[in-house]
Amino acid sequence: MTERPEDLCPRPDVPRPMPTEPLASPIYQAAVYRCADPAQADAMLAGREAGYVYSRDANPNSDLLAERVRALHGAEQAVACSSGMAACAAIALAHLVSGDHVIVGDQMYGRTQVLFEKELSRLGVTTTRVDACDPAAVAKALTARTRLVVVETITNPLVRVIDVAALAKVVHAGGAKLVVDNTFASPVLCRPLELGADIVFESLTKIMNGHSDVLLGVVCGRSDDGARLRSVVGTYGFSAAPFDSWLAARGIGTLALRARQASTNALAAATFLAGRAECAQVYYPGLREHPDHALAQRQFAGRFGSMLSFTLAGGSAAAERFIGAAKQIPFCPSLGDLGTTLSHPESTSHRGLTPAERAALGITGGTIRLSVGIESPEAVVAALTQGLAGL
Ligand SMILES: Cc1ncc(COP(=O)(O)O)c(C=O)c1O
Repeated sequence: MTERPEDLCPRPDVPRPMPTEPLASPIYQAAVYRCADPAQADAMLAGREAGYVYSRDANPNSDLLAERVRALHGAEQAVACSSGMAACAAIALAHLVSGDHVIVGDQMYGRTQVLFEKELSRLGVTTTRVDACDPAAVAKALTARTRLVVVETITNPLVRVIDVAALAKVVHAGGAKLVVDNTFASPVLCRPLELGADIVFESLTKIMNGHSDVLLGVVCGRSDDGARLRSVVGTYGFSAAPFDSWLAARGIGTLALRARQASTNALAAATFLAGRAECAQVYYPGLREHPDHALAQRQFAGRFGSMLSFTLAGGSAAAERFIGAAKQIPFCPSLGDLGTTLSHPESTSHRGLTPAERAALGITGGTIRLSVGIESPEAVVAALTQGLAGL
């Protein structure tokens, strides 16, 4: 029977079961699912039955992505979120109430500090900044109300390395939970849950997805946190969208290859820069003179990651000239792309700090952060050489 166009249901039919399955996972670009009856909808929404009703609560692509990352971290459960910040906020909202205290590392991603110190303070949560490379300093800052200690595996931008196992012991002795932002390391370098951390989160926006085309995050942890976390993610609307999740699940398929190549390139770049008089300081845990070199060797099984920073002796003016001359290294205040990119912490990620706070951390106008990509090591060094030639 033929139908007039105006009689057609405006929705195309979903495909019926097919005799063969697609090798690539389908994208379930759907906001809502058709339920068989009220009992089924009720059972799924209550979590008694597996399945999907409304994509903000759960969708197949974000579940598949979370499962991929869960397996990489050896976690009991994982929840995908719409960004790294959404993941961090979900952890905070799932675990904290008014009156609680949090310790954050003093070299965190700027927005993480803003989240705890400016946003959660409005809800009655107090925060203390501590040098997380010093477990004794963290122990001293713990109070009876401390619920969470939030640190980065590799700090931003001066790439100090946190001793996760040592810190976990101190934090647990104080009755708190250790939350690790593993974005700079990725599970290729570090699996903090295996070292004693309670919760790990990643901004999948960076090297995990690796293609600079989505914003996503994930929280991994123990099963008893799962229901509470899913409730926060669904209620606040921190959920990951199906298409973005599909892209990131695909990106993660090449994570190990990309992370290895980028680590090799970063060591070549750091070694090159350390030999140049224009650089007053080079920060990379793969260099013998880095204060955490031995810890990084042990904790990251001989790899040192794709992130490094360096400070040009000529200060802000030199940084500006370098950025202008390094035509092959785009100035992008993010990280983890396929190609090498650079950032200028003073004017981007750390612009929220006072000059005195930046100076205390060692960040100046001459500090440049590199996110090393997967080109050949020769190409990375050539691109840096071109930048230095502009000074
Ligand atoms: C270390 C680190 N953690 C978390 C985030 C936040 O991630 P997103 O941008 O996906 O919200 C960033 C972003 O740059 C970051 O660098």
